[in-house]
Formats: sequence, structure tokens, C-alpha cells
Amino acid sequence: MDKRILIAEDDESLRRVIEFHLCEKGYTVLAAEDGKQALGLFRRERPDLVLTDMAMPGLGGLDLLREVKRLEPAVPVIIITAFGSIESAVEAMRDGAFDYITKPISNEELSLVVQKALEYKALKDENVRLRLEVKDRFKFENIIGSTPQMKHLYELMGRVAARDVTILIQGETGTGKELVARAIHYNSTRSAGPFVPINCGAIPKDLVESELFGSRKGAYTGATRDRSGRFEQANRGTLFLDEVAELSPDLQVKLLRALEERLVTPLGGEKPIPVDIRIIAASNRSLETAVQEGEFREDIYYRLNVVSILVPPLRERLDDIPLLVQHFLAKFGQPRCEVDGKVWAVLSRYRWPGNVRQLENVIERALVLQQAPGRLAVGDLPPEVVTPSHRPFLAVGEFPEQGIDLEENEKLLIQMALARADNNQTRAAELLGISRHVLIYRMQKYGIR
Ligand SMILES: Nc1ncnc2c1ncn2[C@@H]1O[C@H](COP(=O)(O)OP(=O)(O)OP(=O)(O)O)[C@@H](O)[C@H]1O
Ligand SMILES: [Mg+2]
Repeated sequence: MDKRILIAEDDESLRRVIEFHLCEKGYTVLAAEDGKQALGLFRRERPDLVLTDMAMPGLGGLDLLREVKRLEPAVPVIIITAFGSIESAVEAMRDGAFDYITKPISNEELSLVVQKALEYKALKDENVRLRLEVKDRFKFENIIGSTPQMKHLYELMGRVAARDVTILIQGETGTGKELVARAIHYNSTRSAGPFVPINCGAIPKDLVESELFGSRKGAYTGATRDRSGRFEQANRGTLFLDEVAELSPDLQVKLLRALEERLVTPLGGEKPIPVDIRIIAASNRSLETAVQEGEFREDIYYRLNVVSILVPPLRERLDDIPLLVQHFLAKFGQPRCEVDGKVWAVLSRYRWPGNVRQLENVIERALVLQQAPGRLAVGDLPPEVVTPSHRPFLAVGEFPEQGIDLEENEKLLIQMALARADNNQTRAAELLGISRHVLIYRMQKYGIR
């Protein structure tokens, strides 16, 4: 891979000389004429090495050094000092500079120091990678679960974390998709870089574009300065595109370009900016169905779905409930709380439409309402969990004395059939023994999406 070096030097002729020499050696050079410009370039491009003059108007070399070390400690910084100002060079070394060279610069010395610094950086990167591989590869501390379904998930995560591939995570709401995305990031070679989430469904439609791609000053009324988008912010890290199915068609087109070329153009900007990111997308709607129904572009679907991870719903791994409950009891400050035997029976009979998130809420609420301190009883659980409304369906034969709500049950059956059919309407209609038109009509009637 070609190495990119950022030079900050206000003396134009010296800058040119250095630039020429380094280009000749096969490096890619980014040149800035002062510290401020250099910092901007650094933020955007994340070069492998910084070479900076000490005295520059505005932001000086020492300040630039400190900022670079704060943003990315692993990037070596080489200081250029005037002959005779050794003290400041010493100060710079104390602040984390890799080395310094004095003016007038000898080409030979320059090449040598640059090469040394880059080797050092490569070694550090490799170290980080190895450490990750050996120690943490299959460790996803905060994801709880030991059922075969979860072990399969860990195994898959372990295999893809270190590769830089795009990942699509699907699963019902509350199953832990974001947790999985974060774990993959922190177990990847990008773990020192940022993890930047964006919920495509939660941002007002007309703001999504500037949120994603950034905007330039004057792009719209109120845009008083340049703003970086999430793509840029995620540079050298991972961009987590949550609820990706909610992107409007025109933004899908722009996303496709960003995915294919790794270039983003800010709103009101002309020049595309290169970004070095890994993308993890998530959706609790089946993207395949969204494609079938013409709401999501097929080409983006294939771009995102390089590796697909399905997070299983809680009702398919009920054996994880005790571990999860223990985890949440500890999280809410009562690790030694006792749990009545009947509670386990109730929790494992319930279907958990809100999955782990719902279980977490149920435990948190129970601990607040707890009748006997230090003890969790069935009475502390919410009524819908203890006697779920779909009980009549599950207990066919014993029609309850107080009657049932037929429409509620019909709605529930439709939702269950859709879930069973992975949101494929044709298949769900088959499961229910009705036509797809009737199914769609009833879904509209009950407000099922
Ligand atoms: N396996 C798990 N172990 C521990 N906590 C979990 C697990 N799965 C989910 N959680 C917790 O449940 C909550 C919901 O998880 P998360 O936000 O990752 O779900 P999601 O799949 O992204 O949901 P949505 O589709 O609604 O955005 C979080 O508080 C998370 O910490
Ligand atoms: Mg989520």
C-alpha cells in the first residue's frame, strides 16, 4: 500500500523541495502551507506520517503535533527545526514527536527518518492486529448468550471481524444488532478508529443527506460553516448504517456511489472527498422483501450484503434467558437478587416480540416494583408477560371465561405468520390460508407494516 505523508511548511520553496523528493521516493504527499490547513487535511485524510515545520504563522508545529497525537497517537510526527533551536525540538520529542531534522535538510537524512518512522508505524499496526487476533478474536464480552445459535453467531463474527468486508446485520427489533456491530468494530483492525452510528430512520428526511455526507458553508439557509458528515467522521473506522431500509430512493443512489467509490460529496460541495471506512448496515425489516417490493434498490442490497449476519430472536433461544436475567440483575445493581422458580416458567413461555431489549426493560421494571426486596416474584412482572394476550391462541380448547378479543388475536396471528415467513407476504398468506390481497388488506386495517 502506498504511504501518505502530510507536510506542513510555510516556506514554499522548501515545501516544494521536500514534496518533490518524497514523491520521487514513491510516497503520496499532501502539502499544507500552515498548521491550520495541515490539521484540516489530517482530519480528512488520516495520513500515515506528518512532517511539520516548527515555526509557522497561526497554528505552530508544536500545536499541530499535540493535536495529531490526540487524534491519532499511532501516527508518527517528524519535526523540522531551524538549525540552532534544539530546545524546541527537545520539547517536541517530549510531546511525542518521533524524531526531528534540522534545516538545511539533507535529502538522505530526510529519506532515512521518514522510512524509519513508517516502519515503526507499520510495526505498531501489526502489533495491534496480532494482539487482537490472539487475545480478543472470539471475545465479545458484553454479548450474553451461550446457546448454539449464539455460539454460531460468535463464530461468524470472529471470522468476519478482522476482514474489512461490508456486513449486513438483520434481525428483529431488540435482538442486539447494534451490540453485534460494535463488537465487530472493536474486534477489527479499525478498533483504534471511530465507530460512528447513524439511524437512517430517525433523522428527518431532508436532513439525512447532510448528516451522511456533510455540507459546505452556504449549501442551504443556516449553513454558516462547513460540516462534516458521518462518512467523514467515520474515516479509518466503521460507519454503522442503522435502519438502512428507511433511506429514500435518491439517497440510496448516493449511498451506492459512496459504497462503490468510497467518495462522498458534501451538500453544496464540488470536490468528492475520499473516505476510508468499513460499513456495517442493519435493518429489522427484511431487506430482501424491501427489494422484492421495490422499496430498496437491488444493487445496493448486493453491495451491503457481502456478509450477512442474522441475529436470532429471543424466543428461538429461550435457554439464554437465565444468563441474560443474571446479567441484567447485575447491571441494575442487584447481582444477588433471588429469582422465584415460577418466574423462569413465565419468562420462558412468553414470546418476547421486543426480544432482549424487552427482557431488559421487564427486569429493570421488576426491580423497581419489587414487593420483597432481594427477591423477584411473578407479581413483579408486567401483566402482558404473565398472561399474554395471545394466550387463547396458544391454549386452544380452553376458551377463557372472560372471552377474548378476536381482532387482537387476528392481528397477532398475522404478525406471527409474517415473522415466521421472514416478512415474505406471499409465504405468510400461505401460512394463514388466505390470499396475498386479503393479507395486505388486513395488514392495512391493523396498521401492520
Ligand atoms: N445478547 C445480548 N446480551 C446482552 N445484552 C443484549 C443482548 N442483545 C441485546 N442486548 C441489549 O438489548 C438492548 C437492545 O439491543 P440493540 O440496540 O443492539 O438492538 P437492535 O437489534 O439494534 O434493536 P433495533 O432493531 O430496535 O434497533 C440493548 O440495551 C442491548 O445492550
Ligand atoms: Mg438498533
